[in-house]
Amino acid sequence: MFPRKAKPKQYLLVIDIGTEFVKALVFRLERGISEQGEIKDQGVILGFGRQRQMAGHMLAGAVADIDGVTQTCQRAIEEASQMARVKPKQAVIGIAGEFIKGTTINFVCPREKPGELIDSIELQNIIQRVQWRAFDRARRQLSQETCCPEVEIKPINALLSDIRVDGYQVTNPLGFQGKELFLSIFNVYAPLVHLRAVENIAAKLDLDLISIAAEPYALTKTSCFNPTAGAIFIDIGGGTTDIALVRQNRVEGIRSFALAGQTFTKRLSQMFDIDLSEAEKIKMRHSQQRLGQSVQWKIRNILKDDLRLWLSGVELVLEEFDQAEYLPPQILLCGGGSLLPGIKNILKREKVQKHWLDKFPFTQPPKVDFIQSKQIENIIDQTERLEGPEYITPMALASLTVEIIGDEDKALSPILRRVLKLMK
Ligand SMILES: Nc1ncnc2c1ncn2[C@@H]1O[C@H](COP(=O)(O)OP(=O)(O)OP(=O)(O)O)[C@@H](O)[C@H]1O
Ligand SMILES: [Mg+2]
Repeated sequence: MFPRKAKPKQYLLVIDIGTEFVKALVFRLERGISEQGEIKDQGVILGFGRQRQMAGHMLAGAVADIDGVTQTCQRAIEEASQMARVKPKQAVIGIAGEFIKGTTINFVCPREKPGELIDSIELQNIIQRVQWRAFDRARRQLSQETCCPEVEIKPINALLSDIRVDGYQVTNPLGFQGKELFLSIFNVYAPLVHLRAVENIAAKLDLDLISIAAEPYALTKTSCFNPTAGAIFIDIGGGTTDIALVRQNRVEGIRSFALAGQTFTKRLSQMFDIDLSEAEKIKMRHSQQRLGQSVQWKIRNILKDDLRLWLSGVELVLEEFDQAEYLPPQILLCGGGSLLPGIKNILKREKVQKHWLDKFPFTQPPKVDFIQSKQIENIIDQTERLEGPEYITPMALASLTVEIIGDEDKALSPILRRVLKLMK
């Protein structure tokens, strides 16, 4: 295989706008060679920045003060750019939170003329029909959940996850003949008001916004699980817990609830009657086992009920996924909030696992692991300092960016992108 035409060096920026921290990564897109000797695009991280959001600027993953968040992003970008010695203009911004939803639609389309070859016009028409149907369904669902009939949403990420012609799985149906075409499309939607806020921030930062991406979707681009068996990804941040489900090679759903790191900090602040920053310090020392035995025990006791509540949030999300298929045997954690020992402990507790085996279609008690930075596909951390679960999400966003850009010349993505553009 010969290398495709070499691309000029391209520098990109990823911004993860979190409830508690903005993280920015600067990376270089380059063409490398995989361990198997294949040519592939990869991102080399050259710099990173992390800045704390000010109180009230973000609410449960959503921007609440555009100017305030812009300033915090600016500082994070400066930090990352100084380390990288380059300041890219093109950026991908990641968002998460309660109203970002990802669902899969399965659609069987009988073909009027089975003897004719499927061409791109027919395919585009079918995809368009499926996408409108999926969009209506998502809008209705969000209206019901928020009790607001006028919620406006927009698709942000889409993936053709399964294509079959007369039952045979194909990667590209163009040129096939058959009686029916089956499509399974995974879509992520976000409320228009959130998207406009992010676009506004990008404009104020004078960035060329390549894409807004759903962070839980980006997380599924890791190589720490067997795609056939699947995995449940849980990103526990400051404001929200975001969950993505992958099973049988397909990203199936994304859900979120507003209970994460801040909840535990607030509880400690309340119980010890101290301010939030003091409570945050105590929480960290508790996680790092740096407190005396009795204080450790006391904190565990204080956080017990909130952890139970957090667990029921996870259970509610699992209930929303289709129960007709098995749930994956692995839970993968990331996000700063996942460092609270109680999180992993409660997920691994024998009583909880037993209960889950009864309640959900697990075939075995799920294994609980942390995602490691080296497991993010096509990303090399040249800074060698991106340790810790809070950097997994921005690194996964960088990985998704590499895919989005490298995907331009793959056959089906342009059709799906065209349909998304038409819908917008
Ligand atoms: N060692 C630790 N132990 C417990 N909690 C921790 C630890 N380190 C970080 N955290 C918590 O992680 C949270 C921040 O994580 P992260 O940076 O992933 O959030 P975010 O991306 O800003 O928020 P979100 O994803 O909810 O929008 C904070 O609540 C912080 O207290
Ligand atoms: Mg986050």
